[in-house]
Amino acid sequence: MPLGAREEVLEPMMDAPNSLAARDIAYSLHPYTNLDAHQTRGPFIITRGQGIHVYDDQDNAYIEGLAGLWCTGLGFSETRLIKAAEQQMQTLPFNHSFAHRAMPPVIDLAEKLVQIAPGELSRPYFVNSGSEAVDTAIKMVWYYHNAIGKPAKKKIISRKRGYHGVTIASGSLTALPFAQDGWDLPIDRIIHTETPCFYRYGQDGETEDEFSTRMAETLDAQIEAEGPDTVAAFIAEPVMGAGGVLVPPTGYFNKIQQVLKKHDVLMIADEVITGFGRTGNMWGCETYGITPDLLTCAKQLSSAYFPIGAVMVTDKLFQAFVEASKQYGIFGTGNTYGGHPVGAAVALETLKIYEDDDILGHVNDVAPRFQERLAKLGDHPLVGEARGVGLLGGLELVASKETREQYPPTAKAALTVADKALSHGLIVRPLPGDAIGICPPLIVSTDDIDDMFSRLERGLNDAFDDLKDTDT
Ligand SMILES: Cc1ncc(COP(=O)(O)O)c(C=O)c1O
Repeated sequence: MPLGAREEVLEPMMDAPNSLAARDIAYSLHPYTNLDAHQTRGPFIITRGQGIHVYDDQDNAYIEGLAGLWCTGLGFSETRLIKAAEQQMQTLPFNHSFAHRAMPPVIDLAEKLVQIAPGELSRPYFVNSGSEAVDTAIKMVWYYHNAIGKPAKKKIISRKRGYHGVTIASGSLTALPFAQDGWDLPIDRIIHTETPCFYRYGQDGETEDEFSTRMAETLDAQIEAEGPDTVAAFIAEPVMGAGGVLVPPTGYFNKIQQVLKKHDVLMIADEVITGFGRTGNMWGCETYGITPDLLTCAKQLSSAYFPIGAVMVTDKLFQAFVEASKQYGIFGTGNTYGGHPVGAAVALETLKIYEDDDILGHVNDVAPRFQERLAKLGDHPLVGEARGVGLLGGLELVASKETREQYPPTAKAALTVADKALSHGLIVRPLPGDAIGICPPLIVSTDDIDDMFSRLERGLNDAFDDLKDTDT
């Protein structure tokens, strides 16, 4: 079937009671889904993938313009990863790393990550997801401060609209209403600071650099008000992804890190989306001059072919953990599947492919075209700001380009654009702040990029027709 042949994507597909759609409605509980709407809207069923495309249950093809969930960097049919998984399954499908046990692919992967890690980071600790990585990073920050005799230093600061996961602690750092309302989050010890989005929150007459200074001064004042002796760490995505693809304003991380240094507050870089080439460097930390004490990663670590994530810490933290073992005995944390041998083998092969195929070089070859096409959409009447870096892009939708006023939430502007794009054979993601996220597999060609943005433009045109008479 041709790309995007599906005409009406909202049509429920539940006519046959034993259909996949009907059984999904009958039996599944979907994450991040409006469960009430799902009863009538039904599922969008993806059955297979090839290159940068996925196919639905009617065999319509779609460009996966969000690489699944910002994660399938190598697309959907990388045979080297399939072989790596199969080979490891046959050799040793499971063992663990508790109590001094180790496995060759996990040792190899740890070594490889240390070789490519930014700054002073070493010692990867393996988990199964981004949320677990962030949760574990928080535990490590607390453990570290106990170990060095600063037990009062425990509060963690994240940014409003930051996304760091869904577990009780990582979900508390995720400062987005849908992840906290109704869930009794955030827990205590968590503080939220301002969102560094100059387009939306910059003041009249303020330059981008002055805006960054204000963000840093606000953080400084918050730490002072809390008491620097109680503030342990600051966590940030180099580019805020799920909160609306917010690229840091000029000078932001430099100014923020000066504040952290002043108050002896650790920097956690959450590279779950930005890691492994997404911004044009191996790490977002390199793109934005961030020197982290801890780093969390997942997603493109295995191109999402196997669930695996990691926390990396500096030697300073590691040595404190070693010392603490003299007091506590074991380093008392661990997940059964953390450092799963199959996940490690797949991740190791992923990193080898990034090197063998010079994925970084490729990203830098095609990213200018991506950013050029993205920027052009900034002229569309529905788009207030087009922003991005590398192969990551966002569009902020507005009802008025002049006043930056947005559509009312009831208009569901971002969802409308995403649905219209889908009808043109392109998957993009509606995000908070009426933004659209675009994050294709890293293997996209310039032709794919042109095709993708043409489809997105058609989606925007259709959505504009639907939205233009909305009362704001
Ligand atoms: C920056 C960031 N951190 C953490 C997470 C949570 O990862 P996971 O969904 O694997 O738990 C995400 C997920 O999108 C993310 O974007």
